[in-house]
Amino acid sequence: MGVRAERPAGRDLLRVQGLQSGYGEITVLWGVDLAVREGEITALIGSNGAGKSTLMRTLSGLVPARGGKVTWNGEEIQGDSPARVLDLGIAHVPEGRRLFSAMSVEDNLIMGAYLRKIGRAEMQRDLDRIYTIFPKLRERRSQAAGTMSGGEQQMCAIGRGLMSAPRLLMIDELSLGLSPLLVEQLIDALNALNREGLTILVVEQDVVTALELSTSAYVMDTGRVVQHGPSRELLRDPAVRQAYLGVLAG
Ligand SMILES: Nc1ncnc2c1ncn2[C@@H]1O[C@H](COP(=O)(O)OP(=O)(O)OP(=O)(O)O)[C@@H](O)[C@H]1O
Ligand SMILES: [Mg+2]
Repeated sequence: MGVRAERPAGRDLLRVQGLQSGYGEITVLWGVDLAVREGEITALIGSNGAGKSTLMRTLSGLVPARGGKVTWNGEEIQGDSPARVLDLGIAHVPEGRRLFSAMSVEDNLIMGAYLRKIGRAEMQRDLDRIYTIFPKLRERRSQAAGTMSGGEQQMCAIGRGLMSAPRLLMIDELSLGLSPLLVEQLIDALNALNREGLTILVVEQDVVTALELSTSAYVMDTGRVVQHGPSRELLRDPAVRQAYLGVLAG
């Protein structure tokens, strides 16, 4: 083999073109175009029912794509199974967290690694890494996940996602129902993971939080991307401010 070219920073790790999907008779995504650049935090915002969760479910293979193309690292992956998508390095922290509530925190984390063929030592090393990021989870590792607070459950859900050793972590509704202090802790953790090289796609209802956390952002409305650009610019955009921050343009 020849000399492999250096990968340019910020190339598209995930590229979505004309993606369509839905449920039964209902079409939800009408042709979504979006790109997630490697090493960045990308935010997805938009009103309730815009299709943000459906987009994440379609990307992770839980909802079948009905049209369009999803390219991961240069390879087309639309139509791949959820296990295959996870194995490729895309982890999905779903809306509502979906932990195994009767199982312990640690067993939930271990479930995140189920596709990886790793031995005890590596598993323990990865668990320790999660416990370093979220010390609360170490304290509570034997507790049933369903009895944890909302914030602790979100840490556990993110930890479970990380246990698959992803290159892209997709988080649906990062801050929903969590206290400001906890949201701040989660954001610190995500920024630290991002600095270590993790690419993140986050759906976040709080538009200011979303735009401050991310480098680029996409605005969805009724199953389409209606606006996108650098987060800093969107934060200043009068239309975005008026639609999502209740600030009157003028
Ligand atoms: N399992 C389902 N069966 C049928 N319709 C669904 C299903 N899940 C979602 N929908 C519909 O798809 C549309 C988009 O929903 P989705 O959950 O993707 O929106 P969202 O942008 O994540 O909204 P929110 O901000 O409220 O989480 C909505 O009209 C919703 O009713
Ligand atoms: Mg949603």
